[in-house]
Amino acid sequence: MARWSHLASLAIILALLQAASSEHWLNSYFTTDGNVRAAYDASGQQVAMVILNQQSGGGGFNSKKKFLFGHFSIKMKLIPGNSAGTVSCFYLSSGDDQYRDEIDMEFMGNSSGQPVVLNTNVDDKVIRSFKRYADLPFPNSKPMSLHATLWDGSYWATEKGKIPIDWSHAPFTVSYRNYYANACIGGGKCPAGSARWMHRQLSKADWGTISWAKQNYMRYNYCDDGWRFPQGLPGECSRN
Ligand SMILES: *[C@@H]1O[C@H](CO)[C@@H](O)[C@H](O)[C@H]1NC(C)=O
Repeated sequence: MARWSHLASLAIILALLQAASSEHWLNSYFTTDGNVRAAYDASGQQVAMVILNQQSGGGGFNSKKKFLFGHFSIKMKLIPGNSAGTVSCFYLSSGDDQYRDEIDMEFMGNSSGQPVVLNTNVDDKVIRSFKRYADLPFPNSKPMSLHATLWDGSYWATEKGKIPIDWSHAPFTVSYRNYYANACIGGGKCPAGSARWMHRQLSKADWGTISWAKQNYMRYNYCDDGWRFPQGLPGECSRN
């Protein structure tokens, strides 16, 4: 009998260990807001589903930790079909005040079959480089938390607000999976191996990707927007 209970407790411990190691990444690393669900896709992979509907609005998730420098990635499955008026995001932000630093990936929904626009300042496929100059602002002093959100951007997102959300297609869902972070926590502690991305230089091929993206896909660059900056373009515009 003693042996049985021993085995039984071993089984329970194993079951607990398994439960702990299979905890969903959404719950391990993030807090959630609004309409968000930890779920599994058809292949059994953990996905976070962020849902937008007319009654209860959108949702999002926010990292429990803050980071200063890092390498992050996630896969987003965007809203299929008519997504006009929706905005699906994955971004870093140092706070809510007007002086916050942000690094954004924002997908602006569109009518069925029309191109989805990505508003961004950084991406893993190197489509933009932002050099650090001692005398110009650089996001190096304010730790950032990571966020994902899906919201109603009807009033400006699609064709400057001309095409609002068609709620008859709701609920709208964006799935996130394969979350990965290799980042220094605010305060300085960096993970082993971070030197690899910390000291990475862009290769010739990376520079090629940047000009490919610029030539074929860039439709807005604040450095070309004299109307927005009548008093002069930001300092980095003449230096990159
Ligand atoms: C939506 O599609 C139209 C037509 O192709 C395009 O002009 C526009 O830039 C697209 N994106 C948004 C966010 O309006």
